[in-house]
Amino acid sequence: MDFTPDEHELADLELLLSGAFHPLTGFLGHDDVHTVQEQGTLADGTPWPAPVTLHLPAEAVPGDEVRLLDPEGLPLAVVTVTPDGPNGPLRSLNAPEHGPFARLRRTPEQVRAELAGAETLAVTMRGPLDDLSEVAATAKELDARILLLPLSYGEAGPAVVRAALKAAQQLPEGTLVVPVPLAPRDEIEIDLELREHVATAYGATEHLAGPEPVRIPGPPHRRGLVVFFTGLSGSGKSTIARGLRDALLESGSRKITYLDGDLVRHLLSKGLTFSRDDRDLNIRRIGFVAAEAARHGGLAICAPIAPFADTRDEVRELVDSVGGDFLLVHVSTPLEECERRDRKGLYAKARAGEIPAFTGVSDPYEEPDDADLVIDTTHISVEAAVSRVLDTLVAGRWVRQ
Ligand code: ADX
Repeated sequence: MDFTPDEHELADLELLLSGAFHPLTGFLGHDDVHTVQEQGTLADGTPWPAPVTLHLPAEAVPGDEVRLLDPEGLPLAVVTVTPDGPNGPLRSLNAPEHGPFARLRRTPEQVRAELAGAETLAVTMRGPLDDLSEVAATAKELDARILLLPLSYGEAGPAVVRAALKAAQQLPEGTLVVPVPLAPRDEIEIDLELREHVATAYGATEHLAGPEPVRIPGPPHRRGLVVFFTGLSGSGKSTIARGLRDALLESGSRKITYLDGDLVRHLLSKGLTFSRDDRDLNIRRIGFVAAEAARHGGLAICAPIAPFADTRDEVRELVDSVGGDFLLVHVSTPLEECERRDRKGLYAKARAGEIPAFTGVSDPYEEPDDADLVIDTTHISVEAAVSRVLDTLVAGRWVRQ
């Protein structure tokens, strides 16, 4: 079978294949990972500082050979599933070639050959170096060449490589720049240990860990924001979402992307049904577009039913991963009221059995327990409901009055 690992796993795969994780050459199995300490052990008992693992879909059973693909579908390697997980040896198929600055990447072996045993000061970077003179002075003291290893992973990856290339111009001649897609680990000690391992694999005789980038998020009114309405059909989501959109367009303070449920199903999700899988796909598509808008500082308003908590969580995480904020608004108008209004006549049809799997009638709606705002429209006007959302946006400084 074929499987596309996630971004973090692909980055680990690349380092396993290139030899940067030497002596580790394949993913760790379940038994090798002691998640409590976030550590692992190699076959010969050597401790390994981080759980370098791969989560395959449940269909992959022991004995299976799984081809690991990059996001564009290029097969990178084959792994054999064992009872202990996908920890068999990796067989390389194609050199990874995706991502910005891929052409600058080199294997540890190539870099070691170029360094030819010279004393080498490697500097691993997750952000710009704030003191280049210190790096130059240390290299001089050690009589070492300088090897800058920008850790080019994720959103900030390309910026780190650019910072390294710029720094290299101000450092002594012969300074090398080699991007390494090492995904950051939550525990700072583990991250540092892994950086040390990678630097050594690339031939470093000394390792300097560059400073952690201080990420100062911009003010809320410049950050991306996704206002995500969820609620039953007929609860008033679309009406409030539209009111919010219009009010924001009138004030002109933010760029708006509007993704109403019914509207999305006319193009972006045209042809999808109301099965669990299709509803999930519908919400993921909406989330994807909203996150793209948020990535560029936009404000996206979404208003699908989004009946499943897990899928709403996924969207929240996606938006978070691009540096946007996420506001979940539960339009909690009870079923009885939605059904009493029945503006589109759909509840009547659902009750008559003409629409199968109708949310609230014959299909579930999982009430959110993580809503940032809850609005029941039974007894309040549209204007009042829109005001409540606007007030929340102003209070959070996402929009200025
Ligand atoms: S979701 O479940 O995937 O989030 P979405 O918001 O796109 O749903 O679409 C909901 C709209 O589709 C409802 O407002 C209603 O007009 C229409 N609809 C048609 N069939 C169904 C159904 N089985 N369940 C819920 N809504 C339906």
